[in-house]
Amino acid sequence: MGLNGTVIAVDGPAAAGKGTLARRLAAALGLPYLDTGLLYRAVGRRVLDAGADPRDALCAEAAARALVPADLERGDLRGPMADMAASAVAAIPAVRAALLDFQRDFGRAHGAVLDGRDIGTVVFPDAAVKLFVTASVAERARRRHLELAARGVAADPTQVEAEIRDRDAQDANRPVAPLRPAADAILLDTTALDATAAFDAALAMVRARLGVPGTQA
Ligand code: DC
Repeated sequence: MGLNGTVIAVDGPAAAGKGTLARRLAAALGLPYLDTGLLYRAVGRRVLDAGADPRDALCAEAAARALVPADLERGDLRGPMADMAASAVAAIPAVRAALLDFQRDFGRAHGAVLDGRDIGTVVFPDAAVKLFVTASVAERARRRHLELAARGVAADPTQVEAEIRDRDAQDANRPVAPLRPAADAILLDTTALDATAAFDAALAMVRARLGVPGTQA
């Protein structure tokens, strides 16, 4: 069965393992992959570079409109400052509007797996499969702390957990495209699953939803 043209939405809160999961799903299904969080991160970074506040709507919209593919390749899109800047610009409606066409064009070209916060609710409400990937705050903080340590960044675990809670609140409580599962999303709680177990569970869910037998796709 050819999956060309199929759109799969993977949404969920920060550090739930969406990125790893979505990338692996895309590879297994032969679909392109887009990490939509990178778009917001790149906009936030441009605003910081300009010396402006990421909550500055005019500056953030200009940054979103000026975005070029090379911005997504920058090495400084992760870390606490980039995290909060991305979350702040993501609350601005004009920024979201400016990034919408890029995401839709990407998904429509050949189908895709996209991960983010609002893929199943706003960007592709008609996606063939919608996964909402979550995990407890404590587990997400543990994973983020390990990830930072692996990159040689020393961080206080309590601070990491506080930042995740802040970002959850900011992403879920914004008036525009708040983080929430689509009504028809399949929930996947990865609190007790390692990356491989989460991937196996997700792939089985996707195959079941698409009606693809396990030996194919
Ligand atoms: O997935 P991430 O942690 O890289 O996303 C960074 C921020 O971007 C996140 O705090 C919220 C925002 N975001 C969003 O609002 N909508 C998306 N589709 C993806 C990310």
